[in-house]
Amino acid sequence: MKIIQLTDTHLLPPGATVHGVDPEVHLRAAVADILEKHGDPHLLVITGDLCNDGDPEAYALLREILSPFTCDIRLLLGNHDARPAFTAAFPEQPRDENGFIQSHLDTPFGRLLFLDSHGAGIIGGIYDTQRLAWLDDALGNAGEKPVTVFVHHPPVHSGIAHFENIEMHDDGLLLQRLATHPAGIRHIVFGHIHVPLAGTSATGIAYSSGQACSHKFVTDIDAPDPFWTAGNPCYRIIQLDENGFRAYAAEVGETRTARAGPCAGP
Ligand SMILES: [Fe+2]
Repeated sequence: MKIIQLTDTHLLPPGATVHGVDPEVHLRAAVADILEKHGDPHLLVITGDLCNDGDPEAYALLREILSPFTCDIRLLLGNHDARPAFTAAFPEQPRDENGFIQSHLDTPFGRLLFLDSHGAGIIGGIYDTQRLAWLDDALGNAGEKPVTVFVHHPPVHSGIAHFENIEMHDDGLLLQRLATHPAGIRHIVFGHIHVPLAGTSATGIAYSSGQACSHKFVTDIDAPDPFWTAGNPCYRIIQLDENGFRAYAAEVGETRTARAGPCAGP
């Protein structure tokens, strides 16, 4: 199945900019590219920081921009989001019994989990006992199905200095719970860090971030104060099938220097 991941769209009311980027321009360009090249996804996921300041106007804009999609859509909350404004704008997005924006989707290739790591006024992620209880049920009910996780904050240490104090504030509990799932975790898909990162946890769980659709960091692992850059609008195409999990990074507006001919091999 084909899943499109957008992340860190950081929408603002029309015309406003953030760190030198008009996030609406970036998102509209990404959506146009997705619809042109991948108009048939099974699922669109935005892994948080949907809007930069949680403005109702920005959520209304997001709804309008996403309206051409006919596939299932799951929107996750990031630290920049505002839960009340989000739930008012997207009342149909599934939530758990405690009101957290958490849900699952069963597919022929395992169970997808969509987690809510938003804590009002906190930049890092929160995954508290109520949310862990939901996760325990979702993993328990998954049975023999392998699980793929979507969440805004990485539940792993990124190793990036700027994020040292704003990672998941859960003492590693979320990752520990995931590691207990007998059928395995295919992948953890996240955003938040505004740089592309891929890795494997000490317990063997693969993870990666999508690049932000809006502003990005110039990759600098050691600087607590790295530079922002506008870059190009980005998204990922995720394929989940009988061969496992693959994520392809896509960037809109790259300079084309030459065309490659077909490779006949060997
Ligand atoms: Fe972000």
